Amino acid sequence: MLGDWVSIGYLISATLFIYGLKNLGHPKTAPKGNRFGAMGMAVAIVTTIIEMNLIDDGIIGWELILSGLIIGSLIGYILAIRVEMTGMPELVALFNGFGGAASALVAFSESWRYIYENDDIPVGLELSVIYIAVGLSALVGWMTLTGSLLAMFKLKGGVTIFGHWVKAPTWGPSWLNLVKGTLIFSSVILIYMSIKEPGEEYYLWAIVIISCLIGILIVLPIGGADMPVVVSLLNSLSGIAAAFTGFIISNSVLIVAGSLVGASGLILTFIMCKAMNRTLPDVLFKSFGGQEKATLTRTKIGADSEEVAMMIDGAQKVIIVPGYGMAVSQCQHQVKEFADLLKDKFDTDVKYAIHPVAGRMPGHMNVLLAEANVPYDQLIEMEEINQEFSECDMAVIIGANDTCNPAARSGEGPLAGMPIINADKARSVVFIKRSLSVGYAGVDNDLFYEDKTMMLFGDGKVMMNELNSAIKEL
Ligand code: TAP
Repeated sequence: MLGDWVSIGYLISATLFIYGLKNLGHPKTAPKGNRFGAMGMAVAIVTTIIEMNLIDDGIIGWELILSGLIIGSLIGYILAIRVEMTGMPELVALFNGFGGAASALVAFSESWRYIYENDDIPVGLELSVIYIAVGLSALVGWMTLTGSLLAMFKLKGGVTIFGHWVKAPTWGPSWLNLVKGTLIFSSVILIYMSIKEPGEEYYLWAIVIISCLIGILIVLPIGGADMPVVVSLLNSLSGIAAAFTGFIISNSVLIVAGSLVGASGLILTFIMCKAMNRTLPDVLFKSFGGQEKATLTRTKIGADSEEVAMMIDGAQKVIIVPGYGMAVSQCQHQVKEFADLLKDKFDTDVKYAIHPVAGRMPGHMNVLLAEANVPYDQLIEMEEINQEFSECDMAVIIGANDTCNPAARSGEGPLAGMPIINADKARSVVFIKRSLSVGYAGVDNDLFYEDKTMMLFGDGKVMMNELNSAIKEL
């Protein structure tokens, strides 16, 4: 009877996951989707504990489970409360890594039970299938951990060790692909050997070491604008590792949740690839973003907010192009005020151009602008808005750089081939940023130096406040 309730509990949590995922598809319903996902996880945890209590003598070691729940919840809560909006991608990368490692550890401990405790050892085909799942879970899980840690390091740009700033490395000669291929092939052989000699622990240890290396070698050559692809791929891998582990411990909800994460992460990976105009093999094996940041030798004199306000006065159509700098300066409310001012005071047609990889995480701009209550119908995706720039009087670019850098059309360098927002096609362009510095991909932006471009140098929030005041005074 209790067993039926366990099945019902798993069914409810799987339904909540699917419903949550569906709601995550739109910024308006995303918070609701998040809550459904969290509820699904709570139901899954309680159901798993009930199921564990049904096995043999019930749960031995409640203290461990409760301490794990309390410590894990506290760490998660503190990290989520303290993280800055701009630090979210690093946190997501870290969580992906922890997810992969957790799955691999559970799979490992299960195989340990067979090796050392001779406990309920399955035989024949069942044992082979379990060892394949253990090997694959170890391979994917440890690879996800080391790959995610390196990705986090790269997203931060580097770390301070004993007071010295150590820059995140990007390195990938073409022969590295051969090394990666050899390591992947070796791990397949090791999984085969572990099935042939099921009691032998050394094969598993060798798989762990090789997968840690594969994770590092896969992420090492990737950098610059290709990082969104690798983070969503790692997210997908953490789900796949969980699904393998669910299979090993016969936990249906882990299989469902892992498959959902794996599939949605893979869909996101392909969306990111499309946004960057890359194929997944290109990102993984061609080492695009590894170039040093460009050194600037040119200069450009900045404009002031009064000058820009006067130009805006005559504009009938203005397109706002937000980017990572808007997230850093948290000026989304000032941006919304700016748009409202233009509409109320000059009856200007104002729209927002959203690039799929603007900022540092998928949907970054949508989330920030939704927080500032910008109506969704004003947020226009890149493909649609790009046709409107030719009749746009002014593109106001707030903290964006790579996503509107015409160098992407040149066919060379880390941005080569990435579709961009056609801000350079507008009649005039205003950049709000602190300097002439490059963006994430490290490529100088020629649009800064065009005659029609005005540079409003300063922090996004400060400059937006100045600009809004200048418009109010007109
Ligand atoms: P970026 O090209 O990174 O440029 C951001 C610009 O913001 C910088 O040039 C910086 O110039 C400016 N900025 C920084 N702090 C500022 C502040 N407080 N006030 C005003 N401006 C500030 O941004 P983007 O156009 O949004 O492109 C995103 C890039 O990140 C792409 O290359 C993308 O591939 C990559 N990426 C995206 C993701 C996802 S999933 N979205 C994940 C990882 C990487 P100053 O220093 O001169 O101010």
